[in-house]
Amino acid sequence: MRSPKDFFAPLAVGAPDPVREIPVRPSRMIHFFDPGNEKMTAKLPDLASKADVLLGNLEDAVRADRKVAARQGLVALAKNTDFGAAQLWTRINSLDSPWALDDLITLVTEVGDRLDVIMVPKVDGAQDIHYVDRLLAQLEARAGLRRPLLVHAILETASGVANVEEIAGASPRMQGISLGPADLAASRRMKTTRVGGGHPGYLVRSDPAGDDLHAGRTTYQQDLWHYTVARMVDACAANGILPYYGPFGDIRDVVACEDQFRNAFLLGCVGAWTLHPVQIEIARKVFSPSPEDVAWARRVIREMGDGTGAVMIDGKMQDDASVKQCKVVAELADALAA
Ligand code: GLV
Ligand code: MG
Repeated sequence: MRSPKDFFAPLAVGAPDPVREIPVRPSRMIHFFDPGNEKMTAKLPDLASKADVLLGNLEDAVRADRKVAARQGLVALAKNTDFGAAQLWTRINSLDSPWALDDLITLVTEVGDRLDVIMVPKVDGAQDIHYVDRLLAQLEARAGLRRPLLVHAILETASGVANVEEIAGASPRMQGISLGPADLAASRRMKTTRVGGGHPGYLVRSDPAGDDLHAGRTTYQQDLWHYTVARMVDACAANGILPYYGPFGDIRDVVACEDQFRNAFLLGCVGAWTLHPVQIEIARKVFSPSPEDVAWARRVIREMGDGTGAVMIDGKMQDDASVKQCKVVAELADALAA
């Protein structure tokens, strides 16, 4: 069975450690398309040269009366489209819906050899992954597939967040987890109606200068998703799989989208979903380390020699731990350039 480890290359030095391993195949942007929408699918050959991952979405955003058309559209596309270097993923319908079983049976039987990853929405716990895992094993055997399909969970229910560690380790098929801020907000009964991003009401305020509580105070908007992203990153890193930020719904607000993606990148995510071509370029920029950061990382690694001890570089202390931090950046750059 192909394991998530095949998605990683060990670092050149030190003992194997999943936390210090890096992805080989880039997945900086998971670009969503509706396989039943001809206007959208006509753009796929062009998008295949731009996006690391193209995902045929069968779940939310596809109307109930278009589910079968979307599924059949994906089968036809998978058979007839050259996706070049882009990976082809799908998001099936949720396991409590009337469509999930047929999604899996049809897709694995007809185009299982063309798909890389199956994204499963609304995962509540390890039992959901176990169910998909067993079903995939049967369907793969029936279809005579030699390459096991990988599974990606969306973290978008309160139960899922409570069980994220067991979800991350539920099967050797687990490839990664994405934060789904819209469903998660609803599941938690959060009072935001936005799809990802911040909220002007979620803020902290500087102290008052005197008795006037309204005068001259600065407000700082906070990140609604910090806790969940950080928790998801830990669960993924501890299990050697990959964390992703999900959708950012305000397509016009490219500035806040970039901020949200960058927060996720800095916290450890390797990519995000993109819902419009303009977000593909944002994700490419954010999830590829900047030339300045890479140059600095390489300098620290070089000047630290065998990677032990401590040196001062431009007034900043570096030691064994900072070399490990710098290797994360340098080796991500190498992997993306490969
Ligand atoms: C994604 O599926 C979300 O609910 O945000
Ligand atoms: Mg969702």
